[in-house]
Amino acid sequence: MTKECDTLISAEENRAMFDRIAKNYDVANRAISMGLDKRWRRKAVAELMPFSGGRYLDIGTGTGDLVVEILNQAPGAGVDGIDPSVEMLAVAKNKVAEKGVSFFEADATALPMHGAFYDGIVSGFCFRNIEHRQKALIEMLRVLKPGGKLAILEATYPASPLVRLGYRLYTPLVPVIGKMLGGGAAYKYLVDSIGDFPRPETVLDMFREAGFDEVECRPLTLGTVCIFSGRKKQDG
Ligand SMILES: C[S@@+](CC[C@H](N)C(=O)[O-])C[C@H]1O[C@@H](n2cnc3c(N)ncnc32)[C@H](O)[C@@H]1O
Repeated sequence: MTKECDTLISAEENRAMFDRIAKNYDVANRAISMGLDKRWRRKAVAELMPFSGGRYLDIGTGTGDLVVEILNQAPGAGVDGIDPSVEMLAVAKNKVAEKGVSFFEADATALPMHGAFYDGIVSGFCFRNIEHRQKALIEMLRVLKPGGKLAILEATYPASPLVRLGYRLYTPLVPVIGKMLGGGAAYKYLVDSIGDFPRPETVLDMFREAGFDEVECRPLTLGTVCIFSGRKKQDG
């Protein structure tokens, strides 16, 4: 039997969940990642080697932290962010008032851009939540310029048995921290969805199937997080 969608909950349930947790998302994120999330975002953006005057897209921008990081690394870049959650976007718009940044309410599987505009696309902790991930990868490839790069930062279930042990001891705390910040069920989903997410080799195969070249996976923090990257062919 083929799965009708890749995720544990529907796109609509996902949107409603992120609307609910938007206000406390940044605080919860920092607490759950023990402050490492900033470093992970810095590395994901660095994969794109962004430059001033370049044009970048953040998919599932949420509260806009990756947009901020792109502008830190490349002041003067043009950045767009898309997300289906209006409440997450409201926090992002409050945080980022820079010129050259636009936010759109949209889903990764139906990007509102009509051409191949972007030198780079980044996406952080969003891919896991997309109902039809292959469709989203094809959309990302479509809006990248030839030679442009995609970097997807995602939480992954660690491969090493020893790290898995530590991970299993830590993860029951995640919904507890989430509950203190008013989002218990969302943070239980976070843990469950990481367990359900395909292994890195499968994600890399999905990139290849979509048509990406130079496909790589870079594990961070003992493989609890990975940066998946790929490039659009020059003649793509
Ligand atoms: C865990 S948050 C990550 C936010 C931000 N990228 C970060 O690094 O903190 C996941 C975001 O992905 C968005 N999202 C979920 N499904 C999506 C989809 N199908 N297309 C685009 N964004 C989606 C959610 O609304 C949420 O804002």
